[in-house]
Amino acid sequence: MQDIVVYAENLTKKFGNFVAVDNICFEVKKGEIYGFLGANGAGKTTTIRMLCGLITPTSGDGFVCGFSIKENPEEVKKRIGYMSQKFSLYNILTVRENLEFYGGIYGLDSGLIKKRIKEISEKIDLKEEIDRLVEDLPGGIKQRVALACALLHDPQVIFLDEPTAGVDPVLRKKFWDIIDELSLQGKTVFVTTHYMDEVEHCHRIALMDEGKIIKEGKINKIKNQDFDKKIYEITVSDPVTEYKKLIKEKEKIGDISLHGSYIHIITDFFKEKLKELLSDNNVDFSEIKQINPSMEDIFIKLVKK
Ligand SMILES: Nc1ncnc2c1ncn2[C@@H]1O[C@H](COP(=O)(O)OP(=O)(O)O)[C@@H](O)[C@H]1O
Ligand SMILES: [Mg+2]
Repeated sequence: MQDIVVYAENLTKKFGNFVAVDNICFEVKKGEIYGFLGANGAGKTTTIRMLCGLITPTSGDGFVCGFSIKENPEEVKKRIGYMSQKFSLYNILTVRENLEFYGGIYGLDSGLIKKRIKEISEKIDLKEEIDRLVEDLPGGIKQRVALACALLHDPQVIFLDEPTAGVDPVLRKKFWDIIDELSLQGKTVFVTTHYMDEVEHCHRIALMDEGKIIKEGKINKIKNQDFDKKIYEITVSDPVTEYKKLIKEKEKIGDISLHGSYIHIITDFFKEKLKELLSDNNVDFSEIKQINPSMEDIFIKLVKK
């Protein structure tokens, strides 16, 4: 059996009477990329902050590398890297100076810091930026610098809180390539995101809603379990107009949603019958294609429930 590196047991956090994280349980194995998904306010950051030993659970417990976050938060902190949602880099320092600063915080000696900076800047492609001021760098590169800071002391587990928020698609892809590589090297990655397309990089995910985990497991399994219905992608020239026609008939047809220039319909009907229904309602479409559910379709369906 693979080692369990992160383990949550009825983990709960209340702020006054408000339950931000509600009795959640899960485990993450060595080398896994575990994705925590959910809308704003779902409780993702609160969960991460508990697992990093930064705030104490109200009840339940969590274990990271075998240490209780309640009993031994200091031992936990030594073994993890944490990239917070609002990561703090010093704008008036260079990339190298920021890394040196974090190395000092982690208690590494200057020789080791130098060695690690060299390794990390090669590994995550920061060599060209290493002596530039952070304030002069684009957002996507700053994100990589923040990741480098979290990796400097070579932690076993890395917690990333929405690491790609606001980053353009090309740099997002590059960031995920680095994460995939870390996982291959045996690092355990716990990552939160609200970009549904990013879950394809995760080995397993938890979907969080109002403090609870409403779904957990391998992505394909979740997709199959939760989709007994068919999803069709309808190509139309004027999505909004056609959407308005369809939404009036949703009782009869099924779930209807807009996805850019397409309309998605989730229904029990076979394609021919759906074509008929669209024509009956004067929908001006050029193509109907049956598609696999995206994580977004699943999320919308589960949260609606
Ligand atoms: N220190 C705090 N005091 C009171 N409420 C908090 C505090 N931190 C978070 N919350 C609340 O807990 C809920 C979950 O927040 P958070 O964990 O940041 O969600 P997410 O990261 O999924 O967006 C939110 O409703 C938020 O307002
Ligand atoms: Mg958050």
